[in-house]
Amino acid sequence: MPTPGRLLRTAAVIGAVPLLVQAIFLWTGEVGWRIGLLACLAVAAMSGALAWFWLENLRRMTTALHAAADDGGGFSAPFITPRLPAVADVEEALTRLARSLQSRAELVGRLRAADAAIVEALPDPLIVLSDDRAPLRANGAARAMFGLTTPYPAGGDLAALLRHPALSAALDRALTERGPQAADIHLPVPIERDLSVQAIPMDQPMADGGRLILLLTDRTAMRAVERMRADFVANASHELRSPLASVIGFIETLRGPAFDDEEARERFLAIMATQSARMQALIDDLLSLSRIELSEHQPPTGSADLAALLRAEVAALEPLAGATTLLVEAPAALPTKALDATQISQVMRNLLDNALRHGRAGGEVRATLARVEGGARLPSRPGVLLTVADDGPGIPREHIPRLTERFYRVDAGRARATGGTGLGLAIVKHIVIRHRGQLLIESEPGQGAQFRVWLPAD
Ligand SMILES: Nc1ncnc2c1ncn2[C@@H]1O[C@H](COP(=O)(O)OP(=O)(O)OP(=O)(O)O)[C@@H](O)[C@H]1O
Ligand SMILES: [Mg+2]
Repeated sequence: MPTPGRLLRTAAVIGAVPLLVQAIFLWTGEVGWRIGLLACLAVAAMSGALAWFWLENLRRMTTALHAAADDGGGFSAPFITPRLPAVADVEEALTRLARSLQSRAELVGRLRAADAAIVEALPDPLIVLSDDRAPLRANGAARAMFGLTTPYPAGGDLAALLRHPALSAALDRALTERGPQAADIHLPVPIERDLSVQAIPMDQPMADGGRLILLLTDRTAMRAVERMRADFVANASHELRSPLASVIGFIETLRGPAFDDEEARERFLAIMATQSARMQALIDDLLSLSRIELSEHQPPTGSADLAALLRAEVAALEPLAGATTLLVEAPAALPTKALDATQISQVMRNLLDNALRHGRAGGEVRATLARVEGGARLPSRPGVLLTVADDGPGIPREHIPRLTERFYRVDAGRARATGGTGLGLAIVKHIVIRHRGQLLIESEPGQGAQFRVWLPAD
């Protein structure tokens, strides 16, 4: 409603001249005082009504315009009837203007959505940074790479990348020289990664304030292949040399001095079979390790019932247990994050195999699965804990940190004699890293060893 003061002032402007004319007619006696007074009252009422219509039309028009400006073009015309003819024209023009504004706003919205969709669907990780180098947006590939859950990243693994001195230097150069700059970055934690980064400055800031674009290329797999090739040749040749030398030696003997010796041939062939099996186990382990390392930076995608996997592995090892008792405690339906069932089975197999081979003959091996909400030396997030404990001789403290190195054996002679290649725990470590879990090894010499694998759960 118009305010009384404004209504009075507008009515006064409209009615002032007719009232003055009436007053002059009254004064000069042109009209009788009764008629004159009635005419004055009629003029005042008409002026008041006109003023009210004007003001009310204008007020509603203003409200509709404000609404149109605020919601990006949407315009409804809540005018009153009857309308003043001029106001009806203005209303029509405004409705048209608002419609064109709205369609333009929709067009801009569609263009921005299309841009965002292209960036989002790019196969390479892309991150948008603000002027002060804070991350504003990360596309799908970047979120997958850094384990982010929203397109608006903060902290996490991404912080480590943004703090990297080589990247800071590239960003400085990109901003001062106003051109794309490249940097090669090695991130040691939480997963070792080699990234190649292109920093591209934007002359015009983007709609969300973005000034720099980071285009990342993951070179981890390529570097891992290069490193692995070198390691493989060095370690495998070293490890294969002694069984191969023994097989060659026996072949020589069988061809020469023991040619006719039936009994020796049987014995030598048995040794040769063992040595060949050892070489085969070594090659299988090396291949499996290299496959795991290649996929280490890609998070797993499958799912499985951990309890069923554990029971299956225990059942498969039962024939090798001999006098050792194998015990399992595993509740069904443990919810975990995505996992690779084949690799988790391999973790269980390697740990159980170690407990049986390096534990006490005739002892007890206990495998348990449990849901945990955190605990000593464990992450504070919910997880699932696989524990494999034995009551064997245990592992001297100084060896524990090195157990997961390739080919590392506490007692190389004894481990080799039991068929060990020293790759089992290296495989376990890499699988656990790929699952973003943790491997904890605890042992007191003489009191057995306990291997715990923590995996993230929902
Ligand atoms: N439960 C255990 N008790 C005592 N020592 C262990 C136990 N598990 C592992 N170890 C020690 O850690 C070393 C490394 O284990 P790892 O599984 O990597 O190799 P391996 O068992 O010797 O060979 P592989 O598993 O490749 O056949 C073993 O050689 C052994 O000395
Ligand atoms: Mg082993």
